[in-house]
Amino acid sequence: GVWQARIVTLFPDAFPGVLGLSLTGKALQDGRWQLHTHDLRSFGVGKHRNVDDTPAGGGAGMVMRADVVGPAIEAAQRFARGRWPILYMSPRGRPFTQEMAKDLARCDGVTVLCGRFEGVDERVLEHFGVTEVSIGDYVLTGGEIAAQTVLDATVRLLPGVLGNVESTVEESHSNGLLEHPQFTRPALWEGHAIPDVLMSGNHAEIAKWREAESHRLTQRRRPDLWAAKTGKD
Ligand code: ADE
Repeated sequence: GVWQARIVTLFPDAFPGVLGLSLTGKALQDGRWQLHTHDLRSFGVGKHRNVDDTPAGGGAGMVMRADVVGPAIEAAQRFARGRWPILYMSPRGRPFTQEMAKDLARCDGVTVLCGRFEGVDERVLEHFGVTEVSIGDYVLTGGEIAAQTVLDATVRLLPGVLGNVESTVEESHSNGLLEHPQFTRPALWEGHAIPDVLMSGNHAEIAKWREAESHRLTQRRRPDLWAAKTGKD
């Protein structure tokens, strides 16, 4: 079957969102991947379909109930037959990387749990072997935007989603470095010229310039990436 994303969320209306546009949207329309939502509210308990309760031990906010989230994940995983991972979007998670996107693109799909409030009952994460993933060191209102970030980065790597023009080989992070700057016409804009070497037609010199710019940018902006790549600072 085709690669599929199963989203467990209180806000199914947030999907496909931006994933329904441009490259990922075209690929969705073309059947290169599928997106399915599982509405947590429909698993809610009691007359009011409650999904959360106060934290055990006291404290601020509300926690999503294990007896709500558990059955919702089970419903999503019925389609996985044990063949794909379950992610929980959380600022406590492992930082998301291009390598994780590549790994997900090699699976048959993914189930993504989007939290709201103070989080999800820890027993659910343990029970299903859920992987907690963060998209960065800041706190979002909920996991939906984070889930879309992970899916966008993954779906563009699926076979046939990117054309040849948008190559994944030369882009930032594919080689552990930041990409060189880009320019296009007009040659002169507001008194700023395109660097001469790019207008020279000398492809060896252009390649050398781009590599030097990539190294310069990475050293300046991302000393962490530069150290990981070269072992130097
Ligand atoms: N949910 C709230 N903040 C988040 C973050 N930084 N990454 C992933 N999921 C989140």
